[in-house]
Amino acid sequence: MHHSIDSLGSCSSVSWGSNGAMLTTSSARVGIQALSHSVVRVRMLPPSDEDLRLPPSFAVIEPGWPAPAVAHEEMTDYVRISTSDITVRVQKHPLRVSFLRPDGMPVAADSPAHGMGWTERGAGCYKRFAPGTHFYGFGERTGFLDKQRTAMTLWNSDVNPHTPGTDSLYVSIPFFIAFSGRSAYGIYMDTAARSAFNMGRPRFMPWTSEIDLAPLPYPEVDPCEYWFGTDEKRLDYYFFAGPTIPDVVRAYSDLTGRMQLPPLWALGYHQCRFSYCPEGQVREVARAMREADIPCDAIYLDIDYMDGFRVFTFNPKHFPNPARLMSDLRKDGFNVVTIVDPGVKTDSSYRVYRQGRRRRVFVRRPDGRTYKGRVWPGVVAYPDFARPASRTWWADNHKALFDAGVRGIWNDMNEPSNFAIDTGTLDETALHGEPGAEIEHAYVHNAYGNLMSQATQEAFARLLPNTRPFIITRAGCGGIQRHACVWTGDNSSWWEHLLMTIPMCCNMSLSGVSFVGADVGGFMDSADPELVARWTQMGAFMPLFRSHSMIRSVPQEPYALGEPHTSICRKYIKLRYRLLPYMYTLIRQCAQDGTPVMRPMVYDFPDDSATHAMYDQFMLGPDIMVAPVYLPGAVARPVYFPRGRWAHLETGQIVESMGEHILVQCPLDQIPAYLKEGSILPWGREMSYVGQREQELEVIDIFPSAGMSEAVFSVYADDGKTLEYKDGAFGFIDISYSVREPGRLMLTIASRDKSHPCTMDVGVVRILGGSEMPKRVMLDGTPLPQAASRDELDRRCFFRDSAAGILALGLHVPSRHVVADIRF
Ligand code: GLC
Repeated sequence: MHHSIDSLGSCSSVSWGSNGAMLTTSSARVGIQALSHSVVRVRMLPPSDEDLRLPPSFAVIEPGWPAPAVAHEEMTDYVRISTSDITVRVQKHPLRVSFLRPDGMPVAADSPAHGMGWTERGAGCYKRFAPGTHFYGFGERTGFLDKQRTAMTLWNSDVNPHTPGTDSLYVSIPFFIAFSGRSAYGIYMDTAARSAFNMGRPRFMPWTSEIDLAPLPYPEVDPCEYWFGTDEKRLDYYFFAGPTIPDVVRAYSDLTGRMQLPPLWALGYHQCRFSYCPEGQVREVARAMREADIPCDAIYLDIDYMDGFRVFTFNPKHFPNPARLMSDLRKDGFNVVTIVDPGVKTDSSYRVYRQGRRRRVFVRRPDGRTYKGRVWPGVVAYPDFARPASRTWWADNHKALFDAGVRGIWNDMNEPSNFAIDTGTLDETALHGEPGAEIEHAYVHNAYGNLMSQATQEAFARLLPNTRPFIITRAGCGGIQRHACVWTGDNSSWWEHLLMTIPMCCNMSLSGVSFVGADVGGFMDSADPELVARWTQMGAFMPLFRSHSMIRSVPQEPYALGEPHTSICRKYIKLRYRLLPYMYTLIRQCAQDGTPVMRPMVYDFPDDSATHAMYDQFMLGPDIMVAPVYLPGAVARPVYFPRGRWAHLETGQIVESMGEHILVQCPLDQIPAYLKEGSILPWGREMSYVGQREQELEVIDIFPSAGMSEAVFSVYADDGKTLEYKDGAFGFIDISYSVREPGRLMLTIASRDKSHPCTMDVGVVRILGGSEMPKRVMLDGTPLPQAASRDELDRRCFFRDSAAGILALGLHVPSRHVVADIRF
């Protein structure tokens, strides 16, 4: 298929604004605007506004950046717009845009032959890249971490099952990071329409064939050239200058918004299945979890809880008294999350449908009648979440669920899915928006999941005003992190999918969506217990930790696996609960500044080229490296250790690496997970569910770097459930160590209570890394006695485990102004 681009011709006029310029050609207007010292917006618009019947952005918020100092100059052949960090150089004849770093190095330069232009489908842009550039992000994609040499379409789709070759999935985020190995920049194309990328895929072999091949959705590119485009007759992209990957991710999340703090229980373990039904089965799951001593905070009700799949109802036969069920579960520490699908059954005896029709809240056909599709309930109408009135109506309907005690909402099928037609979604000509200002579905499609989740947020705000929302969605586009967390949809109980979860979730994280996870154990097909055990080990280190499986799959609940697998799952789910102070601190950091929680190795070790395409291990925050086991029967795996020392999370055993792969033993009951040198890791208490016991820092691991070094970790704490943290009701426990002179390690712990009391008891501090026997250990000016065995650590003493190389201090003090002074 031949793709033509109508490239922009010469610029005929330039008009200057305060932080940019508008350039006009015969076929377009091109706006260049410096939004901050490192972010530039580029817009290509048709010559007249009348040609634009497109929605406003669903993703971009007002980022609150201070206005940058901008310098500009105009020459005969080009204009330049400069901030401290980046210069945009726009060539006028023909119009081409490139970006120059302060040292003059060009990045993301339009390719000389084409640059931006109009296509048959909409608009697009060709740019050049340096050989060896890696591309990350793109939201939810299967395949590897690095998307160089791949082409892709972004159009939210209900795909089942998905495989490494699947193109579009449920979440489309037209954002990527280009990393040359030295520096990074990012591009976000702001669109909710179908978009496509060709990141330097080599050209096809020329062919002659009578086969009638479907046209490609993206053009081919020349070597070292990439292309991005949208089906809209406008191109609106943001350039992020970096120059590091974290800089790009944070700036992107400034622009598209931050996650809200979830309730703390949402960081616990979630148990789901399609479907626990009837009610007795739900009770049985809860009972079995507690009996088997498997911590769990949430049980999910999948579609069968509804009356004939009518949203906002309960099946009277199978769930006769949902309020009692939920209050019983609550007493036992479980929150109930119910699935909510957008399709409303077109049944005139059903209140929600009748009311929706009367209020005209549904998506319409071009002739104005209600658009109908087919999902689980049969024929359905789809709420038009693009209209505020529809969202409010939808929000109010959650009363039926919240009144029964539901505390989490699971937004599914919101691509939106439609079984009635081959495309699997709504006709692109279906209409959204206010009467008289309708917008076709084609331009709203990828935002449907965002808008639905926005309505769910409104439901919490209106009906449970001081409760933090827990919303999990399958579909979304840029900015979805503001509204919901995301799971990766219908994966399968395949070892390959365990592995693929890592790059998928890492790329989601880099695309702004940190609260992410995959169905632990796999959804489709039946999992064998070993797979579930290995997946649970990995899931314990991922932000969203939910087990789910398909109707007619074998039981996948941890207690149902049999030994040794049940015990292995128990061990790692318990470890997850002990990780909560660390995990919650990372989540809070992300909510503050967009720092990803789970991230690919390249994020933390960009100078180490071995990490640049690495996808079979990941970092949880800056301190923990996890190398999941993704092969059946494996009892060892090669783990890449970036240069430095690493301490095994469970044994404290040290690995010293020059930056190399090392074969690590990992019997079935162990996942390779390591603490980075120089870090401080607070461990909380074991609990069956969040809030069961008061939190303590039972153990704090300190792993000092060699030589003179120091570090601080500030544990975040608040009430974990209300919105009062927004008014300052939170605090920190600052833990720090320093080695400022040879042979002396100082350790301090102090609470910063602000307006929320957050002091916790501190049990044992373990100093990892093979320290010598100390000559003296002082705790707040008093010498600590030396113990003869580790069993004595439940009182104030110190004990050196020479075999493990660990010096343990039994402190047993509240986290207020503790100073330990250790001399070796
Ligand atoms: C979809 C969801 C899956 C759910 C099922 C039934 O396939 O992705 O998680 O269990 O629908 O509701």
